[in-house]
Amino acid sequence: MFPPGKLENSVVRTRSGRAGDSVIVSMDIGVRHLRWLAHRVSTIERRNRSKASHLVTRVYPALRARLHDALGARLAHARVLDFGCGDDHALVTLLRPDVGSITGVDIVPPRTLGLRRRISFEGGFTPKGIGKGLLGWVEASRRISYMNELARRAPGASSVIHYDGSRLPFDDASFDIVISNAVLQELPPPLEGFAREIRRVLKPGGVIDLEWHSFTSLDGHYVGIEATSARPWFHLLDNAGDDKLNRHTPAEMAEAFAPYFEGLDNLPHDRKLRIRGRDPAYEPEGVELLSPDLLEQLEQLGFTYDALTTRGYFLVGRAR
Ligand SMILES: C[S@@+](CC[C@H](N)C(=O)[O-])C[C@H]1O[C@@H](n2cnc3c(N)ncnc32)[C@H](O)[C@@H]1O
Repeated sequence: MFPPGKLENSVVRTRSGRAGDSVIVSMDIGVRHLRWLAHRVSTIERRNRSKASHLVTRVYPALRARLHDALGARLAHARVLDFGCGDDHALVTLLRPDVGSITGVDIVPPRTLGLRRRISFEGGFTPKGIGKGLLGWVEASRRISYMNELARRAPGASSVIHYDGSRLPFDDASFDIVISNAVLQELPPPLEGFAREIRRVLKPGGVIDLEWHSFTSLDGHYVGIEATSARPWFHLLDNAGDDKLNRHTPAEMAEAFAPYFEGLDNLPHDRKLRIRGRDPAYEPEGVELLSPDLLEQLEQLGFTYDALTTRGYFLVGRAR
């Protein structure tokens, strides 16, 4: 579906046309704009439904089970920080009945801070800033109303805080647990400063459970599944992908956290968040697309079978 910007050709044609043409063309543009908008809204709805369902049915229950394994009955009284909670702070809402209290923190303003802040964050009152701000705000609002519906059925204590991405706005030793979903790969290197901040706000012995997406996975997190089925792992073959993502390996990720945490492990997980070696249903991702020739080609570039077929990792450990 074309965005309205692609309609310029129709406008140019009216200049050499008859007088009535301009009316017909304006109607055409109006209809196309409406169709584009309807398509955009339905895409947002589809994405919202699938994101909400992934968080509700997979991310949240798997996280709760891992935290319960690590803390047992103490989980019910724990103070939790969700690092990079997102503008819809879904996990803050979902996890709050299970813990003592939960706080979310992110560089993107929560939807609840209002449309004006969102537009400023997206680049200000330019056509692009307004467009991106408005769409992001609508998208987060829809997910938040769904999450709030769930929260009404399960009350608890929570708050969400916007910060600038440098020093976390909390006192030392404020939390028992720091969780995070799909964030570490977005942090600019060096990651050691983020690891230090996360350690600072944790109590000694406090727990981290930080999910991150691997750049060497089938779609590298952001390349998109359509692109991958046409040319699997093309972001590695062509050294493409999103420049905003860091490309850390599990060893580099652990190295950044090692000065501040002990018992560090990167637990490899699949698309359904099942852990390799722990969950018998674990499925390496993309094996049907990994022909022997392609594997050999990628191995020559330095990527192993495990690195290529692992969706992401849970970085777990305890504060020193
Ligand atoms: C893919 S989203 C995941 C959001 C949320 N955790 C979820 O599971 O829906 C990545 C999030 O990381 C946040 N982020 C990026 N850099 C950050 C930083 N320095 N500190 C905190 N959050 C950050 C982004 O703003 C974004 O909300």
